[in-house]
Amino acid sequence: MPNVTEKVLRETESPDASAANVEKLISTDQSLASKVLRVVNSAYYGLPGQVSNLSQAIVILGMQQVRNMVLGVSAIGMMKAKTPRQIEQLRLFWLHSFGATAAATFFADAKKLSPKDKEIVFVAGLLHDIGKLFLFSNFTQTYDQVTGYAATKNVSEEEAESFLLGMNHAEIAAEMAQMWKLPENICKLLKSHEGDFEGSSDPVLYVLHLADYATKYLYSGTEAQFAPGYQQEAFDWLGFDEAKMAELFEHVATKVEDASTLFGMVSPAA
Ligand SMILES: [Fe+2]
Ligand SMILES: [Fe+2]
Repeated sequence: MPNVTEKVLRETESPDASAANVEKLISTDQSLASKVLRVVNSAYYGLPGQVSNLSQAIVILGMQQVRNMVLGVSAIGMMKAKTPRQIEQLRLFWLHSFGATAAATFFADAKKLSPKDKEIVFVAGLLHDIGKLFLFSNFTQTYDQVTGYAATKNVSEEEAESFLLGMNHAEIAAEMAQMWKLPENICKLLKSHEGDFEGSSDPVLYVLHLADYATKYLYSGTEAQFAPGYQQEAFDWLGFDEAKMAELFEHVATKVEDASTLFGMVSPAA
């Protein structure tokens, strides 16, 4: 992860975080700063006037929102996408991550999670599959073998990863988060997002897991719907009926459409 992003994360986590410091940090990376401003001024936020500098952006959106945007932009920048296939893979990764945060915040609202927990599921939603991104961008051919193995043996990608690499993408994501010194609870969430939960019934973990499974198909470019393999206990806890599920998928579809426009603004091809 870029140094700046790490510093922004640490600053916003600290109890006496200051907007001035966040602004100063982002400003040290001009490409990042201009991408953040482009995103802030996009239709995604629907702000009435033009936001021309970072301090204005932080006042209007708040430090956490700007922090989230920095994280999203950095995650995209981490992958050196050159070929059209890599760019397409990166786009699908982005849509899945944004789809998952949209679903996660929808669940968090429905289940009346605290604002702090909602913030955690947002960040975890955005980063939960960062291990996959790492594998794909650094070991593209190996990762092709993983997906091929999963398809021919009819096992999950996690099982294929563990078998071929000795580690799955969730464990890799947790290691990465630890290296970036993200809070311990986020590292744990990333590690367990695919299940099993080893006895934990943490609502935050349930929300992240369900959000992931509601948007897994966005990796293959299709619409949001529940993928098989989710943990039944989490689904039972959620207690959504058909109408609520329909509402969820409509919400995710709108957010993913917006995210798709955003991707066009910050992608390596942009
Ligand atoms: Fe995952
Ligand atoms: Fe995922």
